[in-house]
Amino acid sequence: MSEVLEQEAKGTAGHVSKYTRNNPFFSNVSVNRLLTAEGSEKETRHVELTLEEGMTYTPGDAVGIIPENRPEAVADALTALGFKGDERVLDHYKVEISLEEALRTRLGIGKLARGSVGQYAKLAPTIEGLKVLTGPENKARAEEYCWGREFVDLATDFPGVVTDPQQLFNVLQRLTPRMYSISSSQAMHKDSVHTTVRVIRYDSHGRNRQGVASGHLGDRAGEGTTMPIFLHSNANFRLPEDTSAPVIMIGPGTGIAPFRAFLEERQATGQPGDNWLFFGEQREKMDFLYREQLLGMHKDGLLTRLDTAFSRDQHNKVYVQDKMQEQSAELFRWLERGAYFYVCGDATRMAKDVETALLDVIAKGSNGTLEHAAEYLAAMKKQKRYQRDVY
Ligand SMILES: Cc1cc2nc3c(=O)[nH]c(=O)nc-3n(C[C@H](O)[C@H](O)[C@H](O)COP(=O)(O)OP(=O)(O)OC[C@H]3O[C@@H](n4cnc5c(N)ncnc54)[C@H](O)[C@@H]3O)c2cc1C
Ligand SMILES: NC(=O)c1ccc[n+]([C@@H]2O[C@H](COP(=O)([O-])OP(=O)(O)OC[C@H]3O[C@@H](n4cnc5c(N)ncnc54)[C@H](OP(=O)(O)O)[C@@H]3O)[C@@H](O)[C@H]2O)c1
Repeated sequence: MSEVLEQEAKGTAGHVSKYTRNNPFFSNVSVNRLLTAEGSEKETRHVELTLEEGMTYTPGDAVGIIPENRPEAVADALTALGFKGDERVLDHYKVEISLEEALRTRLGIGKLARGSVGQYAKLAPTIEGLKVLTGPENKARAEEYCWGREFVDLATDFPGVVTDPQQLFNVLQRLTPRMYSISSSQAMHKDSVHTTVRVIRYDSHGRNRQGVASGHLGDRAGEGTTMPIFLHSNANFRLPEDTSAPVIMIGPGTGIAPFRAFLEERQATGQPGDNWLFFGEQREKMDFLYREQLLGMHKDGLLTRLDTAFSRDQHNKVYVQDKMQEQSAELFRWLERGAYFYVCGDATRMAKDVETALLDVIAKGSNGTLEHAAEYLAAMKKQKRYQRDVY
């Protein structure tokens, strides 16, 4: 077993589960409910999946979900290709299945990859419109073509290219599992794993689209349905071993997921350490994910501090890092007390801005320079007191 696969198969205390991405567990969806309220610009869902005995996870881990492409997308692709769906093909393991099943469960027909355009073009070297989308000199043009498009667009724009359905296994990438941070603690929910999923829906190039896995969870994974899953260990995102150490958690949007798991764990196992959560979303009325549970934890004292940043409830945007700046002195006192600092959610902007704010908090608190703050943060990293789970 490779190191990655081995890590994937490991749950709590290094138990190796027999379920992996290639041999998933067929879990039941026991709960699938909307967390965002009517009027929200987001559709974020709370999904609970059953586990069988022996399947264990630790807060900080992720669950891999193996989605299917939506039937309408499969039907559209078949129409664009001019096939019926009952044609026989061999899958990646040389198992014979129908083309319809291959397009639904084996092949990535969602967002278009540049590599797929290249392979498609190889099947029709004389089509000028395809030629200009291939080769290193046309990389930017191909990227632009792929943006917001799916395989169906390629097959519609350049019809008649695929003459044998088996060729699709060279053109399309495999349909891959998607990872979701686990939002529950097994100390509280022995037989299930919870996730917090933002459903991706958008319109582009005249079609309505959705994310493959989040769309599946949003539309076709109602309570009582089955979902193939596997647990994925993440040893780099863990509560402190010292249960009395304070923790600071920055989790806007779906970034709240592992922190719900952390808090449930600390609650269920009676860990005495202080907990400080910074949560952010667009609007308090519609987007305060897990509002009742978090407010309850705050009232009960489990959440020592709870700071929220609802970005669109006032004229100027307010983000979690603005709340950090407001609480700069107290935040630094927590760090000096040995607090662990965690960030989860958007990798591209939020995680960077939060790090900049953290450096500023440290510099201000220690009356030092930003260089000194960078050294302080490097020391925190070394002590595993600065951990991120960003995507
Ligand atoms: C470790 C880890 C933890 C994660 N945890 C969570 C979590 O807790 N909750 C969560 O919701 N997600 C989480 N994710 C993200 C998740 O794995 C999926 O990537 C996400 O749900 C999208 O998958 P999808 O199959 O629905 O969308 P896909 O089919 O993969 O499509 C997504 C793609 O659609 C395209 N797209 C999106 N919007 C637009 C638009 N408006 N216009 C054009 N193109 C667009 C983009 O290229 C985007 O990358 C996590 C990821 C990782 C790696
Ligand atoms: N790979 C994927 O396809 C995929 C799928 C799902 C989610 N995601 C990513 O997962 C992350 C979480 O998504 P989400 O919708 O739950 O939440 P999100 O987009 O991160 O939004 C949560 C809150 O963070 C605010 N925000 C925006 N920019 C910020 C910044 N630079 N610093 C701090 N806060 C900022 C948002 O405000 P405003 O909106 O008002 O600016 C909102 O109030 C995002 O990166 C999202 O793109 C990725």
